Amino acid sequence: MSVDDCMLVDLPKITDQRGNLTFIERGKGVMFDIRRVYYLYDIPSGVSRGGHGHKKLSQLMIATSGSFDVLLDDGRKQRTVHLNRPFQGLYICPMIWRELDNFSSGSICLVLASDMYDESDYYRNYSEFCKAAEVS
Ligand code: TYD
Repeated sequence: MSVDDCMLVDLPKITDQRGNLTFIERGKGVMFDIRRVYYLYDIPSGVSRGGHGHKKLSQLMIATSGSFDVLLDDGRKQRTVHLNRPFQGLYICPMIWRELDNFSSGSICLVLASDMYDESDYYRNYSEFCKAAEVS
């Protein structure tokens, strides 16, 4: 797995005079079965979130409000993606270390995940992650 396997996915956007609507349906635009949804909100300015990698979990991350940066790192290569469009999702494949920062005021980060929360799926130590990424 590499940061090049992570990609921006365009989501449907329905616009009329009342505003915009975006929807996500199983099997359309999301390359995994969604088993969990969570969101980050009330994020104080200047903080960083994430700071971990996942062994098996796939995610789709959406800035439903505001903007933030997502640093992606596969142990060899790094890439930063700026998320600021509620109709675009960032697909993050397994074995990617991620750090989220530069949250704008009032921003919301919505995450669709391929599995239930499982602490044993996390790498929370960067050097352990890099060691595991080297052999994977
Ligand atoms: P963490 O994954 O460290 O958050 P972030 O990716 O935003 O830095 O999770 C923070 C805390 O919330 C941690 O104690 C685990 C808990 N948590 C759950 O209980 N369920 C979940 O679905 C998630 C994502 C986290």
